[in-house]
Amino acid sequence: MAQQFLLLGQTLEFMTSPFETPPEDAARHRTHGAILVRDGKIMAVGEAPELTAAHPQVPRIEMGDKLLLPGFVDAHMHYPQTPMIASWGKQLIDWLNTYTFPQEAKFGDPDYARTVADTTLDLALDNGTTTQVSYCTIHPQSVDAYFAAAAQRNMAVVAGKTCMDRNAPENLRDTAQSAYDDSNALLSKWHGVGRASYAITPRFSPTSTPEQLEALGALWAKHPQCLMQTHLSEQLAEIDWVQSLYPDARDYLDTYEAFGLLGARGVYGHAIHLSPREVDRLSETGAGLVHCPTSNTFIGSGLFDMAGLVARHIPVGLATDTGGGSSFSMLRVMAASYEIGQLNGTALHPAQLLWLATQGSANVLHMGDQIGGLQVGSMADIVALDLAATPVIAQRRAMANNIWQALFPTIMMGDDRSIAGVWIAGEKAR
Ligand code: GUN
Ligand code: ZN
Repeated sequence: MAQQFLLLGQTLEFMTSPFETPPEDAARHRTHGAILVRDGKIMAVGEAPELTAAHPQVPRIEMGDKLLLPGFVDAHMHYPQTPMIASWGKQLIDWLNTYTFPQEAKFGDPDYARTVADTTLDLALDNGTTTQVSYCTIHPQSVDAYFAAAAQRNMAVVAGKTCMDRNAPENLRDTAQSAYDDSNALLSKWHGVGRASYAITPRFSPTSTPEQLEALGALWAKHPQCLMQTHLSEQLAEIDWVQSLYPDARDYLDTYEAFGLLGARGVYGHAIHLSPREVDRLSETGAGLVHCPTSNTFIGSGLFDMAGLVARHIPVGLATDTGGGSSFSMLRVMAASYEIGQLNGTALHPAQLLWLATQGSANVLHMGDQIGGLQVGSMADIVALDLAATPVIAQRRAMANNIWQALFPTIMMGDDRSIAGVWIAGEKAR
């Protein structure tokens, strides 16, 4: 017997990107909507009276006026940094040396790694995040721990061993050869197993020798179905450092391109301070960017040019970048993205914010046909959002005249209290 149920509530489905049409035309809202879930997948989305009449025997889960959405997709974070989130007073390079590297050094211990992986994925689910993309540490055990914890929750995750062979403490350095061998072995072990995807993960150009970048470029060429994730142009001091370490490079992006690390399945975090040439190359190659606004303000990095980059048809997703980012909530990330847009002169529409945190992130990961939307055939990774989770949000929502006005106070002021239910592949997780 097929496992099936009807989930009843308000629904919001994107038909197209709200960056390519007037945002309010991009989505269909139903006040009394329903989602038919069968064997972990979405089989139909429609009006509740029609779907209940068509499937009278199917059990129903009544969510009232909660808003049913695809689960959030956090497209860039560092699970090993969960315990050191909100560390005070440093910018990127000092922050890495002072807080991050000592923390990541603990992940040679597989039990510790598993504990932090469990905590991180539970925090994700508490916050309505159903897919997470994580850097691990240089230790292969840290990758095993994370994928095992995600498999236990049946979550679709992307992760990889972080590779560093210079400018990091001795106990956090691999080599070009061991980075290749360990990444290759982990990729063979985990990629495509259950809902796991492997991403080849050089941390960023300053912590890799040219030899290591070349080795990982060769690995990617051998496994082009995998994603490759790294960091790009986050802070000005970092960019100067990259230029001094790679004197022949035309710019930061060129340090990746020169070693075969630029492509459509490349996922580049931050990408704030880009030259026109870099924007051209990103646009030409179809590479994806991940905007991490809570991190960009917390570490003092700068303002991501959402409007300019989207106008060049560069895929963009959203992420927490924990522990550079200071919240596990993708609602808080959407709010920060709105604030940065305001500082750049572009107020993003709630439809655009929501799309970035779901379909936009999924598209950057080339997983948009499976997650990030409520399309028929997508996995039933679903969140039910309470649009009146606190008194102040409730009184603002009571003033709303349409779904976007009703949603915006939750985007700006919501947190894990706004998450009224989470389903992973059709199984209730929260
Ligand atoms: N650049 C290289 N490593 C990191 C990291 O761990 N966090 C952030 N925010 N930027 C980085
Ligand atoms: Zn990062």
